[in-house]
Amino acid sequence: MTPGSTVAIRPAPRLRGEVRPPGDKSVSHRALLLALLADGESRIFGAGDGRDVRATAAVAAALGATVERSGDDPRAVDYRVVSPGRAGLREPSGVLDCRNSGTTLRLTAGILAGLPGFAVLDGDASLRGRPMGRITTPLAAMGAAIAGRAGATLPPLAITGRAPLTPIDHAMPVPSAQAKSAVLLAGLAAEGTTTIRETVATRDHTERMLRARGVAVRTERLPDGGAVHALDGVAGVRPLDEQVPGDISGAAFWLVAAAIHPDAELTLRNVGTNPTRRAIIDLLRRMGAEIDVRPVGAAGDEEAGEPLADLVVRSSALRGIDVTAAEVVAAIDEIPALCLAAAVASGRTAIRGVGELRQKESDRVAGIAAGLAALGARVTVDADTIEIDGGRTLTGATVETQDDHRLAMTFAVAGLVAQGETLIRTPGSADVSYPGFFGELERVRA
Ligand code: S3P
Repeated sequence: MTPGSTVAIRPAPRLRGEVRPPGDKSVSHRALLLALLADGESRIFGAGDGRDVRATAAVAAALGATVERSGDDPRAVDYRVVSPGRAGLREPSGVLDCRNSGTTLRLTAGILAGLPGFAVLDGDASLRGRPMGRITTPLAAMGAAIAGRAGATLPPLAITGRAPLTPIDHAMPVPSAQAKSAVLLAGLAAEGTTTIRETVATRDHTERMLRARGVAVRTERLPDGGAVHALDGVAGVRPLDEQVPGDISGAAFWLVAAAIHPDAELTLRNVGTNPTRRAIIDLLRRMGAEIDVRPVGAAGDEEAGEPLADLVVRSSALRGIDVTAAEVVAAIDEIPALCLAAAVASGRTAIRGVGELRQKESDRVAGIAAGLAALGARVTVDADTIEIDGGRTLTGATVETQDDHRLAMTFAVAGLVAQGETLIRTPGSADVSYPGFFGELERVRA
């Protein structure tokens, strides 16, 4: 189903079935960009086919790789990438359009910093409003010349790369896996050791995937939850065939849907349960959600691959919890869905340190508060804390998604339990990360 400008969701009497979430978006982007840096052929199996990942595939092609995409299941497509390797990449002839994708723009910037030549990164109206100082400051310190709006803190960004770059010891100003990854990718082209210090450890796909491709990224986890990463350049990346795990951020909508629905049991197949990504499972369990995690091995090897599990989730009696700022980092993309769970749970939920959510594809703090309030939830926002007094019966209403995929899917799930009809405005953004989401929603209610 391709939703139009508004889609109507009616309550579902029951939810049953199996869902295979799309290939993980974060891993799909990285697999494409690392294939671009590797000399030779890389195959990627089961990539997500959302608009964001397609943007990265187009960027890889514009920089000189042959990129072939096959398969017609939008949840899992395969890529064959043949690249001349870093030394053979070309200066792109046009602007690199990253569309809605912060990951595409920020990770590609890290690569371009170490490529002699000129390139411009741009995107849609949402991406043009997202903060880039977190990448342009360290990449400029490494020797790239970067211009952009608002003192090179907003796209479009024009980058003139240099090789080799100068390594830096960089303390990250905000926890961001994208910013960390940009500096790691630039570090591949730097002569010497690049060090990155995180106060809160973020998702570690880039580190795992670099290791799997022969780059020794050394990570020290700190007792306070931070991490230090070091990488020696100049380092080449080996081509590799990779199976992409199912996206836990896509699975999160079904975890919440089943947990808040009175008659539900869903099985989610082959979901990536990387310890730096699985916080949503643990947070929902702390709320009382009945989720069985059944490990089914790993995509790739133990250390450098990604653990996988089938998740079985049932109707649950949820209660409110306190969520810390560090937990928000670990579940950053799942906070909108978690807020929905909190609206239905008994008692109060407080989610602290949500400031970064204002910098996503939309201001998700404002968007989730307004949308849930329209459905009858009691939500207050005080500085960087969202408080939700749960236990409400939600009532269908018209909700604005701000053209943000995660808000669209959160409110669609709310519609499964809300009384009456819930009208989701501009739901098509779901295709950014989860093509076929609305079709799946119809299937599990059948
Ligand atoms: C991502 C990191 C997160 C996340 C985004 C994907 C990644 O962003 O919100 O959807 O693939 O590295 P930040 O690193 O900016 O927090």
